[in-house]
Amino acid sequence: MTLREKIGQMMQLDARGDLDDEILRVNVGSILHTSPENLYRAAELVRRTRLRIPLIIGEDLIHGYSFYPGATIFPEQLGMAVSWNPALVEKAARVTAVEGASTGVHWTFSPVLCIARDTRWGRVGETFGEDPYLIGELASAMVRGYQKGPATEGSLDTDAILATAKHFAGYSETQGGRDASEADLSHRKLASWFLPPFERVAKEGCGTFMLGYESIEGVPVTFNKWLLSDVLRGEWGYRGTLITDWDNVGRAVWEQHVQPDYMHAAAAAVKAGNDLVMTTPRFYDGAYDAIQSGLLSEKELDAAVSRVLALKFRLGLFENPRLPDAERIRAVIGNDEHGRVNLDLARESVALLKNDGVLPFDTDAVSADAADAADATATDDTESSSVKPRHRVALVGPLADDAQTQLGDWAGSSGQVTWMPDGHPRETITTVKDAFETLLPDDWEVVYRRGADVVDLVPDPEGEFFPDGQPRPKIGVPAAIDETMLNEAVAAANESELIVAVVGDVVQLIGEGCSTATLELVGAQNALLDALYATGKPMVVVLMNSKPQVLPESAMNANALLWAPSPGMKGGRAIAEIILGLTEPTGRLPITFPRHVGQLPVYYNQIRGQHGNRYADLTQDPAFAFGEGLSYTTFAYGEPTIGHAGLDHAEDAPTGVMTTFTRGDVIAVSVDVTNTGDRVGSEVVQAYVGDLVTSVSWTDRELKAFRKITLQPGETRTVRFEIPVDACSIVDAAAHRVVESGEFELLVGHSSRREDLRRATFTVK
Ligand code: IFM
Repeated sequence: MTLREKIGQMMQLDARGDLDDEILRVNVGSILHTSPENLYRAAELVRRTRLRIPLIIGEDLIHGYSFYPGATIFPEQLGMAVSWNPALVEKAARVTAVEGASTGVHWTFSPVLCIARDTRWGRVGETFGEDPYLIGELASAMVRGYQKGPATEGSLDTDAILATAKHFAGYSETQGGRDASEADLSHRKLASWFLPPFERVAKEGCGTFMLGYESIEGVPVTFNKWLLSDVLRGEWGYRGTLITDWDNVGRAVWEQHVQPDYMHAAAAAVKAGNDLVMTTPRFYDGAYDAIQSGLLSEKELDAAVSRVLALKFRLGLFENPRLPDAERIRAVIGNDEHGRVNLDLARESVALLKNDGVLPFDTDAVSADAADAADATATDDTESSSVKPRHRVALVGPLADDAQTQLGDWAGSSGQVTWMPDGHPRETITTVKDAFETLLPDDWEVVYRRGADVVDLVPDPEGEFFPDGQPRPKIGVPAAIDETMLNEAVAAANESELIVAVVGDVVQLIGEGCSTATLELVGAQNALLDALYATGKPMVVVLMNSKPQVLPESAMNANALLWAPSPGMKGGRAIAEIILGLTEPTGRLPITFPRHVGQLPVYYNQIRGQHGNRYADLTQDPAFAFGEGLSYTTFAYGEPTIGHAGLDHAEDAPTGVMTTFTRGDVIAVSVDVTNTGDRVGSEVVQAYVGDLVTSVSWTDRELKAFRKITLQPGETRTVRFEIPVDACSIVDAAAHRVVESGEFELLVGHSSRREDLRRATFTVK
């Protein structure tokens, strides 16, 4: 290969650019953001190059195949995390891989392993929430679903796609929630919370890692030799491929000013261990000049190029460039089986946060009561039998029938950018309104009123076009109260037996570059909720958004509150089924809900016991805690018991007796859980561990295991966990992960709240 050909292989360019130039002149190794039609043309262009090296096609298949009309769009990652169901998340990723592969996509830039702590950040919805262990479990499942196995060795099946662990590492640790702002990240902080999920998927063979936009101790991740070479490739022995995020190499020159020019930036990026450089066209000349000037050796470049080529071999692209396959596309895109997986996941991605008993809403019981009342007041027999009462649900709110917003970010649009101006085919999406219209019995009707707007779209004051010539979409500014709309909603509520208010946020307020300073509901939504609450009618609030928001009193005091983070195509159906009691709510929070934006950060596993670490004017108690979520039944926990896995089984260990372990042992935990209600229901049994005295400040409890179980009324099940002692580690002052000798507590129960947890203790010698 010539030097120029090698440099081309390290580049990934935007397929919406000039493909002829990208392929014929640059010999680009990879393209992203393409369409199946483009791929045939790209393959034809590749055949005209000297070496005919196939392209790797990358795409943001973030929560399903969001950029292909009619393909399956699941709840976003935060919604998936509400399910606490790794097996189901794995199935969803498998669906995405099968659909993506049929259209010629080889590689998805998913999953996100960032930890969401400041929920003003626009990309919270793209994460699995705030807990490193839960993130690791779900990310590992997602990678298995995409790849079907490790992608750092051997070959991949033709219906498997490469996964990307992103954004490595600490990108979410923003300042003030502002996307990609300077992060305050020490090596110890990274080792404590941000690296463990990445280490896990690196060791399990996630094919690629994407590097975040941010800097660590002043060095942008893209140039961070410590993180890329010492930790990832060194300590963890990672043998996969690294890709930068969008123009990270260029940003170092024109935005961050940490490299004087493209020659230095290219040299530094290769030396730090990057293999593919996303959308930095000037890397082509920069890398060439770096080698000519001696700043970079060709040997250093070869190491990166060979990893890119190895990836193409593992994908089998030299034998089969995996072009779009019209027959497969017809068979798999959005097929019924995929729809079923989507509905299963959507159902589990809804969390019931409050319920005074109004739910499940029993339409039959309400109809029967009304019929009895009508009979009692009827003046003669004819009247009582011929007049059928008509019942109403007032379905209100800007998100009750907003098909596109229900899909969330990366579903035809992301951050400020719209990729699919026409959106997804309307008939593939079930809104809450669609679902109520289908599911309500004949003597019920749904009266839909929008009631409020979230934002008004206005031209971007920065101009009509981005500097690169792409049109700038309109921006959203908070909408004013529209009295007519509001009054219509209130009138509908007054004539109904139940109000269902669906509120939240819109794509203009979420995503890359779209962080928010506040967490309140935007536009006229609070006024709408207040007015509805004032009617005194039973009210269910459905929060459909991408992150925990701060709710007004009227929502917190509503009879029931559901959270459905960007629930995907089937989200409306799942929500209506849960409200009507056709499906049990089983979701649990993967992230804490604050009461007030000023409470941030409010995640559960904060450093314990700092004097004065509280507000004088506000409780630090969250609105809803990590792990919380209600069912339509109730559960009771027995005392957890502890034993040695493989020796004395936990069943035999006497309750509450100290048990002693050494490093390398595995702790066997067991606990009885009983369904004490009269409906079938699912519980997520959560196990936390706390080291009672640590050599450095540390949190008092961390999630170490969980299991979702379904119990019949009255049924008791013994749930067993195995927790390695080595997982009960902390990060010491020298940034080493260690298990310290001493006493520990094991906390098992329903949520991260202490009052929901049963305790046992053990010792590590
Ligand atoms: O994959 C994304 C990444 O998450 C954010 N920047 C752009 C990439 C490609 O679209």
